[in-house]
Amino acid sequence: MSRFTRPFTRRRAALAAVAVPVLMTGALAVGGGSAHATPAKQGPCDIYAQGGTPCVAAHSTTRALYGAYDGPLYQVKRASDGATYDVHPINRGSYADTKKQDAFCAGTSCVITVIYDQSGHGNDLTQAPPGGFAGPEPGGYDKLADATAAPAYINGHKVYGVKITPGTGYRDNHTNGIATGDDPEGEYAILDGTQYNRGCCFDYGNAETDSHDDGNGTMEAIYFGNSPYWGSGAAAGPWIMADQENGLFSGVNPGENVNDPSVRDRFLTAMVDGGHNEWSIRGGNAQTGELNTYYHGVRPAAAGYNPMKKQGAIILGIGGDNSVSATGTFYEGAMTSGYPTEATENAVQANIAGTKYTAPAVPLQDGTKVYLEATGPGESGKFMTADVTDDAVDVEAVTSSSPADVQLAAQWVETPGLADPSCVSLESVANPGSYLRHYGWVAKVEPNDTTTQYAQDATFCPKAGNSGTGTSFQSVNYPTRYLRDYQGAVDVASNGGWLAWDDPTNWAADSSWLELTALP
Ligand code: AHR
Ligand code: AHR
Repeated sequence: MSRFTRPFTRRRAALAAVAVPVLMTGALAVGGGSAHATPAKQGPCDIYAQGGTPCVAAHSTTRALYGAYDGPLYQVKRASDGATYDVHPINRGSYADTKKQDAFCAGTSCVITVIYDQSGHGNDLTQAPPGGFAGPEPGGYDKLADATAAPAYINGHKVYGVKITPGTGYRDNHTNGIATGDDPEGEYAILDGTQYNRGCCFDYGNAETDSHDDGNGTMEAIYFGNSPYWGSGAAAGPWIMADQENGLFSGVNPGENVNDPSVRDRFLTAMVDGGHNEWSIRGGNAQTGELNTYYHGVRPAAAGYNPMKKQGAIILGIGGDNSVSATGTFYEGAMTSGYPTEATENAVQANIAGTKYTAPAVPLQDGTKVYLEATGPGESGKFMTADVTDDAVDVEAVTSSSPADVQLAAQWVETPGLADPSCVSLESVANPGSYLRHYGWVAKVEPNDTTTQYAQDATFCPKAGNSGTGTSFQSVNYPTRYLRDYQGAVDVASNGGWLAWDDPTNWAADSSWLELTALP
C-alpha cells in the first residue's frame, strides 16, 4: 500500500522585448470502513460496500467517504518554502479541516499535491506525467490545482474542491484493485456543473497505464463538458458522457443521443458504470432529489468497445492520453469493484444530497463603480488606473481633485467573469468594452476580442485579501497568480517564482486591494 508523492524584470519597456513563454518553464488510518463504521455515520463507500460493490478508489478533498475514515484526505504544498501538509477530516467520517490548511497556507499560496485514496488500496492521485500530450510543467508534467480555487461549503463548513484549468491533471498509473479488461466497475463524481469547456477531456476514472491512447475500449471514465467532437447529448451541453477512448459516448450511437440531457447543476452527481457489454450514464442534482438514468444498455455501436480492454489507471481532469485542454471542478468521487445496482447508487445519491453542499456567496457584480486602492507599504492613496495614453495599467496617486480623465481611468466595474461568472472581470469605465487582462504576465486594458484566451486572461476570482486586508484578485487561468502592485504597474504575480514581480517581499500586501466607491 505504497503512497507515492512526487516531490518535485522590468517595467513595461523591458517587457516589450520579452518573448512571452505561454507557460514556464502516513499510512492510512482506515481502509474500507465497514468494520469500524458506526451506524450513525455512513459515507458513499460504506453504501457501495453494503451493496457488494466496494470502493477500490475513493478520492475527495472535501470529506471522508467512509463513516470511519480519519486518515489524510489530501496534501497541499506551499509556495513560500515548499513544505507540505496533509489535510484530515475534522472528525472521523467528517468534512475537511480547512482551518488548518488556511493557517498553513497563510500569506502564501498552496497547490494540491496528492489526493489520497481512502479505500485502503493506495490509489493516490498525484501530478500527471506526460503521455500522448505533454503538460506545461517541467518534464512535461501537468500543473497542480491551486488549493483554494474551488471553495464550497458542507453543512456551512468551508471546504475546497479541485479546480482544473487547462494544463492541470492528476493520475495514478500503478493502481491496485481497479477494473481491467472487461471487468465490471462503477464510478461516481460530484462536479461543479457550471465549470466546463469543449477541451479534451475533463475526466475522472479508468484510463491507460502508459498515458497514451492505446485504442478503442482502453479506458472508461466519467466525462463532463460540452465537447461535441466525438459524441453529444441533447441541446448545447454540457453533458455527462463516458470516455471509452477515441470516443465520448452519450449512448449507443457514436454521435448524438438525445436522451442524455444538458445538465448544469451547481453541484452535479455524475455516474458511469461499465460491465460485460453493458454500461450506463446516470446523473442528478447533488444538492437534492434523485438520480436519473440517461443511458443503460449495450456498448457503443462501433468497433473495439466489446469486450472492453480497460487498463486500470486513474485520471482526473485530463484525457487518457494526457490531453490537457479541459476545465472543470471535482469535489469527490469513487470507483468500485463490480457493477453497482441502481438501488445502491440511489442510496449513494441520498447520502450526497444529505451532505448539503452549498456554493460560496457571489462576489460584487451589481454594476457598482469601484476604485481599487493599493495596500502595500507607502502605496496608500494610489489606485489601479488605466493609462490614458497606452494599454498599460498603472498604480498612481488619484484623488477627488485629480483631472476628470484620470479619475475616470481609475474606475472599474466588476462584471461577471468572462470565463467564469462566479468570478469577475474588471471593465474599464474609461474604456467601455475593454477589460483588464494579463498578457505576458502584465496587466493591460484591451478591447474584448471574444477569444477564449482573452476571457481567461481577463477573469479573476475575488478572495479575502492575501495580507488579511481587502480583496485579492486571483487569475482564473493561473491560480497561483494575483493582481499585484509592483513598481508602479499591475502584474499577475505569484508568491515567489521566475518573474521579477514574483518577489515574495511584500507580495501579500501588494496583491491585496481596497474596493472604494469614492475617491479620497
Ligand atoms: O476519447 C476521448 C479522448 O481521445 C481520450 O480521452 C484521449 O485519450 C483521446 O485523445
Ligand atoms: O499573461 C500570461 C499569458 O501571456 C497569457 O495567458 C497569454 O495571453 C499570453 O501569452
